[in-house]
Order: sequence, then structure tokens, then C-alpha cells
Amino acid sequence: MSSSPLSIQSLTHRFEAGTVNEKLALDRLSLELPAGQFVTVLGSNGSGKTTLFNTILGKLIPDEGRILLDGEDITRQKDYKRALNIGCLYQNPLRGTAPDMTIEENLALAYTRKASRSFFAVNRRDNRYFRELLAGLDMGLENRMKTKMGLLSGGQRQAASLLMATIAQPKLLLLDEHTAALDPGAAEKVMHLTETIARRDHITTLMVTHDMDYALRVGSRTIMLDSGRIVMDLSGEERARMTSGALAELFYAKGKR
Ligand SMILES: Nc1ncnc2c1ncn2[C@@H]1O[C@H](COP(=O)(O)OP(=O)(O)OP(=O)(O)O)[C@@H](O)[C@H]1O
Ligand SMILES: [Mg+2]
Repeated sequence: MSSSPLSIQSLTHRFEAGTVNEKLALDRLSLELPAGQFVTVLGSNGSGKTTLFNTILGKLIPDEGRILLDGEDITRQKDYKRALNIGCLYQNPLRGTAPDMTIEENLALAYTRKASRSFFAVNRRDNRYFRELLAGLDMGLENRMKTKMGLLSGGQRQAASLLMATIAQPKLLLLDEHTAALDPGAAEKVMHLTETIARRDHITTLMVTHDMDYALRVGSRTIMLDSGRIVMDLSGEERARMTSGALAELFYAKGKR
């Protein structure tokens, strides 16, 4: 079972430091996620959400602070190394998959990457497993395993991408507005799958969303970022009592400061 705590300690990052365009994108941001916790992340455009994800993924090395995943300091670990332990999904369903490869090939790639098994060693039992996982999506994709990924609809592709991001049992799942480009029906379906998979595999998860309902309904804790800091952290009773209307008011009040 893949279940790991994430500890973010006083993370600071400036873009274009020392120039007139200097931007403090992360400002001594600290956040502790116990193993298996699912946290939704709100914050206006430019509040630092993607920058936070990029430092966790190793696409950016923060100026200061530390990131510990499962007790291991990964702050300066190479991005390709940590990618084996971190699954991620973005708004654009085209990202993170190979559109000219079939669904089956994409799943096989994601599945064998971590196990350092050869992609060509995927056997019939693995294929049966892929088929079962696809059947679980309830989109009929188990009968389209030879279809090229690029031919799927956005919703189908995000669902398949979610399988790819989680098939190797990551320690952490990062979702950056992964349902924002989908129609409401497809978004609901992918969101439901997200919760089901994260709960089933007990994956520690951070999910960025601009949707107040999802922010409160999905997972067990909601945080809000503003100017690279956490300005709200809701869980338990307090979160259960919060309404999406009241949350939206808080959101806009923060944005006006
Ligand atoms: N590569 C970069 N160079 C310079 N500034 C950057 C860079 N990337 C981000 N920034 C700035 O850092 C701040 C945080 O950006 P970030 O992308 O993290 O915001 P976000 O919360 O993800 O916003 P959105 O909701 O629009 O996705 C913004 O002011 C942005 O302009
Ligand atoms: Mg962003």
C-alpha cells in the first residue's frame, strides 16, 4: 500500500530575483499532509499553486525551505527520480500521455516505468489487469485498448490519464485543475474516479480546483493560497459547516487585499 506523509517546510521561491520583475511566488509556505490525506487547494490566479506543485515535482528548486516525502528530503532530488513516486495530472488532457500510442501502450509504459521492468515484458496477466482497470472507469474503454490515446474525448483521456498516474502506486498525487477543461458531466465522473482511486489506494493527494463545491466536497481538508502563503486551512467540523457561498466570499475578500 502506498501511503506517505508530505512535509513542506517554509518554502520560498522568487522568480526573476533581483530584477524589477521580481515575484515572490512562495512565501515561507509550510504544509503537513499525513499519509493518505486528500487536500483540495484553492487560490486566485497567480497565488502560487502551480509553483508549489513545480517545486514538489522538482521542475523548480526553491530558494529556501525543504520538501520531505515519506520522510525523505526530496528538495534537490532530480525530477526524473521523484517522478517515480509522484503521479500528476493537469488541466490539459493532452499533457502527460503519448497521443500516438494506444491506451494499452500508454498504460504499459506507466506501469513498467517504476518497476524498472521492460515495456516489452508486459504479459497477458498485465494486460488483463489493464482491462480490469479500464472496465472500472465504466466508459467502455476496456474494449478500445488498441485505440490511440489522441482519439479519445477529453473526459475519456483524463480518466485514462488518471489510471496512468496511479497505476504504479505513487506516494503522492498532484492534480492541477484536472477537470477544468471537461464538461460538467465528464468532470463529475472524473472527480468521482479520482476520489475512488485515492481512497482505495490511500494516496496522499493535493488537488487544485477553482470550483468551490469540489473544494469542499472532495477530500477531507481545504486550503487557500494567497500571494504564496496559506491563508485558510479548513478541516473537520469547521469544513463540514462551510458552504460554497461563504467560501466564495472568503475567496473574493482575500483576492481584494
Ligand atoms: N516562470 C516564471 N517566471 C516568472 N514568473 C512566474 C513564472 N511562473 C510563475 N510566475 C509568477 O509566479 C506567480 C505564481 O504563479 P503560479 O503559476 O504558481 O500561480 P497559480 O496559482 O498556479 O495561478 P493559476 O490559477 O492562474 O494557475 C505569478 O505571479 C506568476 O506570474
Ligand atoms: Mg496554476
